[in-house]
Amino acid sequence: MSAPVATSAFSKDNPFPAKVTENRLLNKPGSSKETRHFVVNLGDSGLHYKAGDSLGVFPTNRPVEVAEILEKIGATGDELVSPAMLKLSTPIPLREALSHRLALGSPTSKIISTLFAKATDANEKARLEALLKPEAKDALAGYLDEREYIDILSEFPNTKLTPQELVDHLRKLMPRLYSIASSSRVYPNEIHLTVAIVRYTTNHRERHGVCSTFLADRVRVSETPTPVFVSNSHFGPPEDTTKDAIMVGPGTGIAPFRAFVQDRIAAGATGRNWVFFGDQKSHTDFLYQEEWETYLAEGKITHLDLAWSRDQILKVYVQDKMREKAAELWSWIKGGGHFFVCGDAKRMAKDVDQALHDIIAEQGGMTIEQAQDYVKQMKKDKRYQRDVY
Ligand SMILES: Cc1cc2nc3c(=O)[nH]c(=O)nc-3n(C[C@H](O)[C@H](O)[C@H](O)COP(=O)(O)OP(=O)(O)OC[C@H]3O[C@@H](n4cnc5c(N)ncnc54)[C@H](O)[C@@H]3O)c2cc1C
Ligand SMILES: NC(=O)c1ccc[n+]([C@@H]2O[C@H](COP(=O)([O-])OP(=O)(O)OC[C@H]3O[C@@H](n4cnc5c(N)ncnc54)[C@H](OP(=O)(O)O)[C@@H]3O)[C@@H](O)[C@H]2O)c1
Repeated sequence: MSAPVATSAFSKDNPFPAKVTENRLLNKPGSSKETRHFVVNLGDSGLHYKAGDSLGVFPTNRPVEVAEILEKIGATGDELVSPAMLKLSTPIPLREALSHRLALGSPTSKIISTLFAKATDANEKARLEALLKPEAKDALAGYLDEREYIDILSEFPNTKLTPQELVDHLRKLMPRLYSIASSSRVYPNEIHLTVAIVRYTTNHRERHGVCSTFLADRVRVSETPTPVFVSNSHFGPPEDTTKDAIMVGPGTGIAPFRAFVQDRIAAGATGRNWVFFGDQKSHTDFLYQEEWETYLAEGKITHLDLAWSRDQILKVYVQDKMREKAAELWSWIKGGGHFFVCGDAKRMAKDVDQALHDIIAEQGGMTIEQAQDYVKQMKKDKRYQRDVY
């Protein structure tokens, strides 16, 4: 049932300078989340995508942070540099390297060693030496974890790195992937994204996730060229449109399932759809509420099970909703249904996987080992697919 995928001149190595035509906050006032809906116009790129694919976005760093780094090392930004990680044939201006090509976060111990080797200020040298002591390994890891390069340059103001020395410590700025939240059957020339904007504080400094805040704050709607590429995936709705689909996607994990449901409706799929969604609060965090409620009212999705983790004292998660509906869930799976999970990899996907095993064992009258074999077979048959991050 996949839409045909044609080739385009644009790829990860040659990203398309797309325009973002919509940037809309999905959470309501009072939410502690900032999740945004973006529409990326594919223009004349010839780019095609299918439900389940991701969009790669090449961000740039925040100009204020770049300016602060230049100020700390006493550079203008015009200095030519050849960052080791980039393996360039010709040098580029420092400002361009810091803005577009290098990551300014996640410092390693190498910068501390370099500063120690260069330090002439006794106080700074002693502090750097203390961080490098073998017994301070954990303290150093904690120190680096709380900091970006700008913090370290600020904390050792008398130990100056040259522009080339600085860039040789920095990693390449990598593109970020986002699950596509639209179907090309419905939006052939657009890609929709559902992005959680990353903002937090460490070491008394406000941090800004590079790519999510690039999209939220720095890309001007319909103006800023935004380099993107389509990353094809094996993740996708059932090829056999008669098969049922169970989709578990809390938070931004809902993104690909918005695409799956649009796609299955447009393709005239006869298999049923069951969506499990969850987030913090029902009043503020019900992403795409009107769309889901309309689909439900029109019978385009059979079930919509919602888990609000912070509407009550005890947390309720999507896997709790799965357990409540264990008998029916098993009947869908036993009948050949496909099971999909998207979102947080560290905790949610593991807990949902456990719930799936438990439900199959209990409802299917199986031992734990038999349930494990059943789930392995589901994976082999591509009936259990995950897109987790
Ligand atoms: C296949 C795939 C699909 C994805 N789909 C989506 C999607 O649909 N929507 C979506 O929003 N994201 C999605 N992601 C994640 C996305 O690619 C980015 O990782 C995410 O947007 C963060 O990138 P960033 O550049 O904004 O943040 P970065 O600058 O990369 O910063 C993120 C880092 O900040 C740190 N951090 C974050 N919060 C805190 C905190 N509270 N305290 C301390 N440290 C913290 C963590 O180390 C984290 O790794 C997907 C990832 C993959 C691999
Ligand atoms: N590094 C981390 O510790 C961390 C933590 C969260 C999210 N993230 C990442 O942040 C990004 C965006 O997150 P998001 O906005 O999509 O949503 P999210 O933070 O994953 O939260 C969505 C919903 O899932 C709930 N949840 C938390 N733990 C869960 C679990 N074990 N099982 C099931 N549900 C669980 C949350 O509840 P509560 O928040 O009320 O518990 C919330 O209701 C993702 O990339 C995610 O991986 C990272």
